[in-house]
Amino acid sequence: MLTRKMMFGCQFKNSFFRMAPKTCLSIVNMNMWAPSKEQLLCLFSLFDEKEIERCLAYRTQENCLHRLAGLLLVRHAFSKLFEGKELSLPTCFERSSHGKPFLPDAPDFQFNISHNGNYTSVFAVRGFHAICGLDMMELNSSRLPTSMIAAVSRKFSEQEQSFINNSESAEERRAKFLRIWCLKESYLKAKGYGLSVPLDSISFQFNHPNLTKDIAVLDTQIFEEGERVDVKFMELLFDNHILAVCWDKFAPESSVEVLEPAEFLKTQNGVTNVDSPVMPLVNTFYEKPK
Ligand SMILES: CC(C)(COP(=O)(O)OP(=O)(O)OC[C@H]1O[C@@H](n2cnc3c(N)ncnc32)[C@H](O)[C@@H]1OP(=O)(O)O)[C@@H](O)C(=O)NCCC(=O)NCCS
Repeated sequence: MLTRKMMFGCQFKNSFFRMAPKTCLSIVNMNMWAPSKEQLLCLFSLFDEKEIERCLAYRTQENCLHRLAGLLLVRHAFSKLFEGKELSLPTCFERSSHGKPFLPDAPDFQFNISHNGNYTSVFAVRGFHAICGLDMMELNSSRLPTSMIAAVSRKFSEQEQSFINNSESAEERRAKFLRIWCLKESYLKAKGYGLSVPLDSISFQFNHPNLTKDIAVLDTQIFEEGERVDVKFMELLFDNHILAVCWDKFAPESSVEVLEPAEFLKTQNGVTNVDSPVMPLVNTFYEKPK
């Protein structure tokens, strides 16, 4: 079976008709994706010129593919959440002044993308005025030295600092730090804030001091300027990555989809135009370092 599912909530059950899902959380392991040039041309050509240029502006092939996978996962989520409706999948995105992408023609579809370590992930919610955000971080990323953890932790709230300091090992400190980092990012990304928010203005309170592999934690609470905020979080320690998801209106579906590339490619219906004048741009992909 291609799709691995992990349970993290109660599935909404209705015995009379099948409800369309309201949320979709999909993750793809980028190490398993090595598209051929022909596939790459077809997949890029699903998007408008601006998006293709944006993806290809990244320095490495890896980063370009992460961007492309993010857009494809958004289309995958869109096709799942609007299953049965004759809607064409998104080909271009608008971005807020802080850089958060959105679809102006689908105000009842919210989504957020994260890329880190081996994974690209997308969380999407169907509903007007809903918010959603996610962040994923590799636990042992070499890009996060201990000195940086110590420096950034000092900007967290006092409660968060003592939560981190109350650790028995350097690994536990790192895991707790990354957990708070992902939670903050998932909330800030859900709200669409930029980097302007002081990191100690939001603070988390934990009922589970540590995450356990593959077991979702759903009861972490957030306080902003001392006031409890009514949003929900799901945290998961998965394949050496920490994932945090934030949403407000709807209970999440019962599972995280860990997709193999073949699966999210299956949902990419749309008109490909490999003869478009921007297609030669795709050649620049092969001039980049891996
Ligand atoms: C821009 C920002 C959201 C990127 O986050 P990141 O962790 O570096 O990277 P991620 O891969 O998780 O997320 C990148 C994706 O977030 C989305 N994004 C960009 N700006 C966003 C914003 N203001 N709000 C929500 N989502 C945003 C984009 O889809 C982007 O992917 P894309 O470029 O492929 O479209 C981040 O730098 C930021 O502003 N964070 C919030 C502030 C902060 O202080 N965080 C520290 C927490 S301890």
